[in-house]
Amino acid sequence: MQTSAPSPTTALTARRAVHGPAIYGEPMHGTTPWKLDPAGAQALLTELFEPDADRLAHSIGVGRRAEHVARALGRPELLVSAAYLHDIGYAAAARDTGLHQLDGARCLRALGAPAALTGLVAHHTAATVEAAERGLDTILRREFPEPSGDLLDLLTYCDMTTSARGEVVTVDERFDHIYDRYPPGHLVSRSMQRVEPGLRRIVSAVERRLERPPLR
Ligand SMILES: [Fe+2]
Repeated sequence: MQTSAPSPTTALTARRAVHGPAIYGEPMHGTTPWKLDPAGAQALLTELFEPDADRLAHSIGVGRRAEHVARALGRPELLVSAAYLHDIGYAAAARDTGLHQLDGARCLRALGAPAALTGLVAHHTAATVEAAERGLDTILRREFPEPSGDLLDLLTYCDMTTSARGEVVTVDERFDHIYDRYPPGHLVSRSMQRVEPGLRRIVSAVERRLERPPLR
Protein backbone atom coordinates (compact mmCIF):
# COMPACT_ATOMS: atom_id res chain seq x y z
CA MET A 1 0.00 0.00 0.00
CA GLN A 2 1.30 3.43 -0.87
CA THR A 3 1.57 5.88 1.99
CA SER A 4 1.53 9.59 1.30
CA ALA A 5 4.61 11.64 2.16
CA PRO A 6 4.42 13.45 5.51
CA SER A 7 4.01 17.23 5.44
CA PRO A 8 7.22 19.17 6.07
CA THR A 9 5.93 20.16 9.50
CA THR A 10 5.20 16.57 10.49
CA ALA A 11 8.48 15.32 9.10
CA LEU A 12 10.50 18.07 10.71
CA THR A 13 8.72 17.60 14.04
CA ALA A 14 9.49 13.88 13.89
CA ARG A 15 13.11 14.61 13.02
CA ARG A 16 13.40 17.05 15.91
CA ALA A 17 12.04 14.41 18.30
CA VAL A 18 14.93 12.17 17.28
CA HIS A 19 17.71 14.64 16.58
CA GLY A 20 16.85 17.65 18.73
CA PRO A 21 16.20 21.19 17.52
CA ALA A 22 17.23 21.96 13.96
CA ILE A 23 17.30 25.71 14.11
CA TYR A 24 19.61 27.57 11.76
CA GLY A 25 23.04 27.84 13.28
CA GLU A 26 22.31 25.42 16.13
CA PRO A 27 23.24 21.76 16.46
CA MET A 28 21.03 19.56 14.28
CA HIS A 29 22.01 16.21 15.72
CA GLY A 30 24.40 15.01 18.37
CA THR A 31 26.99 17.66 19.03
CA THR A 32 27.73 18.41 15.37
CA PRO A 33 27.45 22.16 14.72
CA TRP A 34 25.08 22.66 11.82
CA LYS A 35 24.42 25.68 9.68
CA LEU A 36 23.53 26.23 6.05
CA ASP A 37 26.97 27.05 4.72
CA PRO A 38 28.06 24.76 1.84
CA ALA A 39 29.26 22.03 4.26
CA GLY A 40 26.04 22.22 6.30
CA ALA A 41 24.00 22.20 3.10
CA GLN A 42 25.68 18.97 2.00
CA ALA A 43 25.12 17.44 5.43
CA LEU A 44 21.41 18.27 5.22
CA LEU A 45 21.21 16.82 1.72
CA THR A 46 22.67 13.50 2.79
CA GLU A 47 20.22 13.40 5.66
CA LEU A 48 17.17 14.03 3.47
CA PHE A 49 17.97 11.94 0.36
CA GLU A 50 18.76 8.24 0.05
CA PRO A 51 22.47 7.68 -0.72
CA ASP A 52 21.79 6.36 -4.26
CA ALA A 53 19.06 8.87 -5.15
CA ASP A 54 19.48 10.68 -8.48
CA ARG A 55 18.38 13.90 -6.77
CA LEU A 56 21.28 13.63 -4.36
CA ALA A 57 23.77 13.13 -7.21
CA HIS A 58 22.21 15.99 -9.18
CA SER A 59 22.19 18.32 -6.15
CA ILE A 60 25.85 17.61 -5.39
CA GLY A 61 26.69 18.20 -9.07
CA VAL A 62 24.86 21.55 -9.07
CA GLY A 63 26.61 22.52 -5.83
CA ARG A 64 30.03 21.73 -7.32
CA ARG A 65 29.16 23.70 -10.44
CA ALA A 66 28.20 26.64 -8.24
CA GLU A 67 31.52 26.40 -6.38
CA HIS A 68 33.26 26.85 -9.73
CA VAL A 69 30.97 29.72 -10.80
CA ALA A 70 31.23 31.50 -7.42
CA ARG A 71 35.04 31.30 -7.58
CA ALA A 72 35.24 32.37 -11.24
CA LEU A 73 32.87 35.33 -10.87
CA GLY A 74 33.68 36.32 -7.29
CA ARG A 75 30.18 35.57 -6.00
CA PRO A 76 29.28 34.72 -2.36
CA GLU A 77 29.03 31.37 -0.61
CA LEU A 78 25.25 31.84 -0.51
CA LEU A 79 25.13 30.80 -4.17
CA VAL A 80 26.87 27.52 -3.34
CA SER A 81 24.57 26.71 -0.40
CA ALA A 82 21.51 27.48 -2.51
CA ALA A 83 22.83 25.24 -5.29
CA TYR A 84 23.32 22.26 -2.97
CA LEU A 85 19.84 22.79 -1.51
CA HIS A 86 17.89 23.93 -4.58
CA ASP A 87 16.04 20.62 -5.12
CA ILE A 88 15.49 19.73 -1.47
CA GLY A 89 11.76 20.10 -2.08
CA TYR A 90 11.84 16.70 -3.80
CA ALA A 91 12.85 14.98 -0.54
CA ALA A 92 10.06 12.99 1.12
CA ALA A 93 10.43 15.03 4.31
CA ALA A 94 9.82 18.27 2.40
CA ARG A 95 7.30 17.28 -0.29
CA ASP A 96 3.88 18.84 0.18
CA THR A 97 2.35 20.92 -2.63
CA GLY A 98 4.25 19.19 -5.46
CA LEU A 99 5.94 22.45 -6.50
CA HIS A 100 9.43 21.50 -5.41
CA GLN A 101 10.73 25.08 -5.30
CA LEU A 102 7.98 26.08 -2.85
CA ASP A 103 8.25 22.89 -0.79
CA GLY A 104 12.03 23.25 -0.58
CA ALA A 105 11.88 26.90 0.44
CA ARG A 106 9.28 26.15 3.11
CA CYS A 107 11.35 23.28 4.46
CA LEU A 108 14.41 25.51 4.69
CA ARG A 109 12.40 28.32 6.29
CA ALA A 110 11.18 25.81 8.90
CA LEU A 111 14.84 25.03 9.59
CA GLY A 112 15.51 28.73 10.14
CA ALA A 113 17.22 29.51 6.82
CA PRO A 114 17.54 33.22 5.94
CA ALA A 115 15.27 34.83 3.34
CA ALA A 116 18.21 35.30 0.96
CA LEU A 117 18.57 31.52 0.76
CA THR A 118 14.89 30.55 0.71
CA GLY A 119 14.24 33.16 -2.03
CA LEU A 120 16.81 31.57 -4.32
CA VAL A 121 15.47 28.06 -3.73
CA ALA A 122 11.87 29.25 -4.20
CA HIS A 123 12.52 30.91 -7.56
CA HIS A 124 15.25 28.86 -9.23
CA THR A 125 14.83 27.78 -12.85
CA ALA A 126 11.78 29.90 -13.64
CA ALA A 127 9.67 28.50 -10.80
CA THR A 128 6.84 30.97 -11.30
CA VAL A 129 5.79 29.37 -14.60
CA GLU A 130 5.27 25.90 -13.11
CA ALA A 131 3.76 27.61 -10.04
CA ALA A 132 1.18 29.26 -12.30
CA GLU A 133 0.38 25.87 -13.91
CA ARG A 134 -0.25 24.53 -10.41
CA GLY A 135 -2.20 27.60 -9.24
CA LEU A 136 0.53 28.39 -6.70
CA ASP A 137 2.18 31.47 -8.21
CA THR A 138 0.50 33.99 -5.89
CA ILE A 139 1.39 31.92 -2.82
CA LEU A 140 4.96 31.48 -4.01
CA ARG A 141 5.49 35.22 -4.59
CA ARG A 142 3.73 36.17 -1.35
CA GLU A 143 5.75 33.81 0.84
CA PHE A 144 9.06 34.22 -0.97
CA PRO A 145 9.69 37.48 -2.85
CA GLU A 146 11.85 36.92 -5.94
CA PRO A 147 15.46 37.86 -5.18
CA SER A 148 17.07 40.71 -7.09
CA GLY A 149 20.68 40.56 -8.25
CA ASP A 150 22.44 37.95 -10.35
CA LEU A 151 22.54 34.95 -7.98
CA LEU A 152 19.22 33.58 -9.19
CA ASP A 153 20.42 33.48 -12.81
CA LEU A 154 23.71 31.90 -11.73
CA LEU A 155 21.85 29.22 -9.77
CA THR A 156 19.57 28.55 -12.73
CA TYR A 157 22.63 28.30 -14.99
CA CYS A 158 24.18 25.67 -12.68
CA ASP A 159 20.93 23.68 -12.63
CA MET A 160 20.50 23.82 -16.40
CA THR A 161 24.04 22.62 -17.12
CA THR A 162 24.05 19.66 -14.70
CA SER A 163 22.47 16.33 -15.57
CA ALA A 164 20.03 14.35 -13.45
CA ARG A 165 23.01 12.27 -12.24
CA GLY A 166 25.22 15.28 -11.54
CA GLU A 167 27.46 15.41 -14.62
CA VAL A 168 28.26 18.66 -16.44
CA VAL A 169 26.17 18.81 -19.63
CA THR A 170 25.21 21.32 -22.30
CA VAL A 171 21.88 23.06 -22.05
CA ASP A 172 20.75 21.08 -25.15
CA GLU A 173 21.48 17.79 -23.39
CA ARG A 174 19.72 19.02 -20.26
CA PHE A 175 16.52 19.85 -22.14
CA ASP A 176 16.69 16.50 -23.98
CA HIS A 177 16.91 14.67 -20.65
CA ILE A 178 14.02 16.67 -19.17
CA TYR A 179 11.77 15.99 -22.16
CA ASP A 180 12.73 12.29 -22.01
CA ARG A 181 11.85 12.14 -18.33
CA TYR A 182 8.52 13.98 -18.58
CA PRO A 183 6.30 13.02 -21.53
CA PRO A 184 4.69 15.63 -23.82
CA GLY A 185 1.71 17.24 -22.12
CA HIS A 186 3.07 16.55 -18.63
CA LEU A 187 2.84 19.65 -16.45
CA VAL A 188 6.62 19.79 -16.04
CA SER A 189 7.46 19.39 -19.76
CA ARG A 190 4.74 21.91 -20.63
CA SER A 191 6.21 24.43 -18.17
CA MET A 192 9.75 23.78 -19.42
CA GLN A 193 8.70 24.39 -23.02
CA ARG A 194 7.31 27.77 -21.99
CA VAL A 195 10.46 28.80 -20.15
CA GLU A 196 12.99 27.24 -22.53
CA PRO A 197 13.82 30.42 -24.50
CA GLY A 198 14.36 32.42 -21.29
CA LEU A 199 16.46 29.70 -19.69
CA ARG A 200 18.61 29.42 -22.81
CA ARG A 201 19.19 33.19 -22.71
CA ILE A 202 20.27 32.95 -19.06
CA VAL A 203 22.68 30.10 -19.82
CA SER A 204 24.22 31.97 -22.78
CA ALA A 205 24.64 35.16 -20.75
CA VAL A 206 26.36 33.33 -17.88
CA GLU A 207 28.60 31.45 -20.32
CA ARG A 208 29.71 34.79 -21.77
CA ARG A 209 30.50 36.06 -18.27
CA LEU A 210 32.52 32.95 -17.49
CA GLU A 211 34.60 33.49 -20.63
CA ARG A 212 35.68 36.90 -19.29
CA PRO A 213 37.57 37.51 -16.05
CA PRO A 214 35.32 39.10 -13.38
CA LEU A 215 35.27 42.89 -13.04
CA ARG A 216 37.01 43.91 -9.82
FE1 LIG B 1 17.83 20.84 -10.17
